[in-house]
Amino acid sequence: MANTDFVKEIERLKKEKNAVIMAHYYQTGDIQDIADYIGDSLALAQMARKTNADIIVLCGVHFMGETAKILCPDKKVLVPDATAGCSLADSCPADEFEKFIKAHPGHKVISYVNTTAEVKALTDVVVTSSNAKQIVESFPEDEKIIFGPDHNLGNYINSLTGRNMVLWNGACHVHEKFSVEGIIALKREYPNAKVLAHPECPAVVVALADKVGSTAALLKYSLSSDDKEFIVATESGIIHEMQKKAPEKVFIPAPPEVSEGKVGCGCNDCNFMKQNTIEKVYLALRDEKPEIIIDKELSEKAVKSIDRMLEISEKLGL
Ligand code: 13P
Ligand code: SF4
Repeated sequence: MANTDFVKEIERLKKEKNAVIMAHYYQTGDIQDIADYIGDSLALAQMARKTNADIIVLCGVHFMGETAKILCPDKKVLVPDATAGCSLADSCPADEFEKFIKAHPGHKVISYVNTTAEVKALTDVVVTSSNAKQIVESFPEDEKIIFGPDHNLGNYINSLTGRNMVLWNGACHVHEKFSVEGIIALKREYPNAKVLAHPECPAVVVALADKVGSTAALLKYSLSSDDKEFIVATESGIIHEMQKKAPEKVFIPAPPEVSEGKVGCGCNDCNFMKQNTIEKVYLALRDEKPEIIIDKELSEKAVKSIDRMLEISEKLGL
C-alpha cells in the first residue's frame, strides 16, 4: 500500500475503533502529520490522562507507551513497534537502581520519565525536561535527593537550582554525541543563528545554547523569537514541526561527532524513535497489537510517582 492508502485506512480505523493517535516530536514527519496530538513527554502523559478514546496508539518509544498504560490501565495502549526502546531508560536497570537507592538512605527519589515502569515504582516523583527544575524546587532546600537516570539533565538542574542531588550515571546516546566543534563551525557559518539545546546534552553543549529546554520549549522559543536561524541540538524530528509552523525560518540540525573516520549524517536521529513507520501504525490499529501490558501490582506502584508529577505540574500551571 502507498503511504496515502495507509493514511486513509488509519483515519477509517480510528473512527471505527474510537482510537486516538499520540506522537512524540521525534517521530517521522508523516507520523506527526497523522497524529491527533503531538507533544513532548509531559504533554503526552497529560493527554493520555485526559483522553476519552478506547484505544491509544502511542507513537514514540516503549517507556512512553508504558507511561500511557500506567495512567490508563483500563484502555488499550498500542505501540507501533514494541522493540523501540531507549538507551537512557536502558542505562538504569531497576535492580541496580534499587541498590543505589539503598546505598543512599534518607533520600527522596526523582526519576526522569525516560525509565521503565519498574524504576518508576521505586520513585517518589517522576519529572520530564519540562518540569524537572520546578519539581526539584518544590522540595525543601535541605532535602536529600537522588536524581536518575540522566546525568546531564541532573547536572543541569543542579546548576540551575544550586542543589547537590546525587546523580545516577545514565545518558541518551543521541544527545551525548553532538559535536561541540561542529556547532561552533555552524555558528561561524550562520553568525545570527540561535543555538537550541535539550538538557539531555552534555554541559559543554548546553553552555553554547541560547535556549535550553524540552522539545516543546524549544519549539515555542523558535516560533516566538524574532530570530530567523536556529541550530537545533536535539533529535532532528522536532525540526518537522518547527519548519511546518515557521516555513520562513531556517532550522539547522546540530551535527553529531564524527567517529572512526566516518562522515556524520548531519542530523541526529534516534534509531529507536525512527523504528516506527506509517505502515506499523496502520498494522497496530488494524490488529490491535503490539499492546502494552503491565502487571497490576507494578502499575499501581508506578502510577503514584507519575500522578505526583501531574499534580505538581497542574498546580504550577505547566
Ligand atoms: P521531551 O520531548 O520531553 O523534551 O523528551 C525528549 C526525549 O528524549 C524523549 O525521549
Ligand atoms: Fe531515548 Fe534518547 Fe531516543 Fe529520547 S532520543 S528516546 S532519550 S534514546
